[in-house]
Amino acid sequence: MTMPSHAGTLSFFNDLHPPKSRFQDDVLEGLSRPQKSIPPKHFYDARGSALFDDITDTEDYYVTRTELGILDAIAGEIAAKAGSGAVVIEPGSGSSVKIDKLLNALDRAAAYIGLDISKEHLISACEDLAARYDGLSVGAICADFTQPVPLEDLPIPDGKRLVFFPGSTIGNFEPGGAKALLETIRGWLRPGDALLIGADRVKSADILENAYDDASGVTAAFNLNLLTRINRELNGTIETDAFDHKAVWTSDAARVEMHLVAKRDTEFSVSGQTFRMSAGETIHTENSHKFSIERFTALAASAGLVVKQDWSDARGYFTLYWLERA
Ligand code: SAH
Ligand code: AVI
Repeated sequence: MTMPSHAGTLSFFNDLHPPKSRFQDDVLEGLSRPQKSIPPKHFYDARGSALFDDITDTEDYYVTRTELGILDAIAGEIAAKAGSGAVVIEPGSGSSVKIDKLLNALDRAAAYIGLDISKEHLISACEDLAARYDGLSVGAICADFTQPVPLEDLPIPDGKRLVFFPGSTIGNFEPGGAKALLETIRGWLRPGDALLIGADRVKSADILENAYDDASGVTAAFNLNLLTRINRELNGTIETDAFDHKAVWTSDAARVEMHLVAKRDTEFSVSGQTFRMSAGETIHTENSHKFSIERFTALAASAGLVVKQDWSDARGYFTLYWLERA
């Protein structure tokens, strides 16, 4: 039922208006800390979303390819578990590339709802999907899923819900934030509904650091684009060429950290506020936590979810989990 790509019609679009002011607050507050930091959700302006898509095509970023391979291998099992007429909800849907595997596997999904903070990217990906799948009701919600998302107030069609949260986006949260996000998603599930979630595994430091500092420099451009976004949207004067991209595996916290490192002493203003950085000082922009199956199972349990099944690739790089309310 895949059709040529053109814009299809959405059955609904809800903008929960993730507040722009939060970007300014997060940046000003984050740059004022002793260890400067900015939450990774602010990477995803239109350019950042496009750069993330380019990352997924790089040789070094094994994450997307590996997860797609697992989805191919387990398509039949997923279809059997989900049953017929599922309502698929995808938080952090981005370009929705993985959804084709799921929709093609499922027995006549009734509806697909994408949910993302990056509005234009979300709408175009969902319209594209609506054009390609005849008879599938496609909706879109622009929201920040770290804030309450009241699904009960939105026109979600009836049917068994399958929340699809791939890509190891859960790894971008510290343990407390990951638990809170899983609790939010748990609140969307009724008895019999399920969450299919992907989480990246711990592996050797060189594989992990190369994945987050790819040879073609796309991840560096993705990280540096945050500065360009600050300059454009918050009246910033940051000299982007004063910064380097750095990715480092921190085994104690089981995470890859991304930083923007000042190459020289530099001074800039954002929204009228002045900041100074010394050579070598960094802005911490992202954590990507990696999980053993045991640790992920414990995290899920702490949010009231139970692992019913899990599937990994042959190398044990990545795992998909089928979770239900405990
Ligand atoms: N699911 C895709 C994309 C992952 S990139 C994949 O597996 O490849 C992460 C996506 O989550 C981006 O599209 C980004 O815009 C979205 N995102 C990040 N933080 C978010 C937040 N707080 N609320 C809603 N969407 C968010
Ligand atoms: C979206 N998220 C899960 C990606 C990750 O792997 O942490 C974002 C990313 N950052 C650098 N490369 C990819």
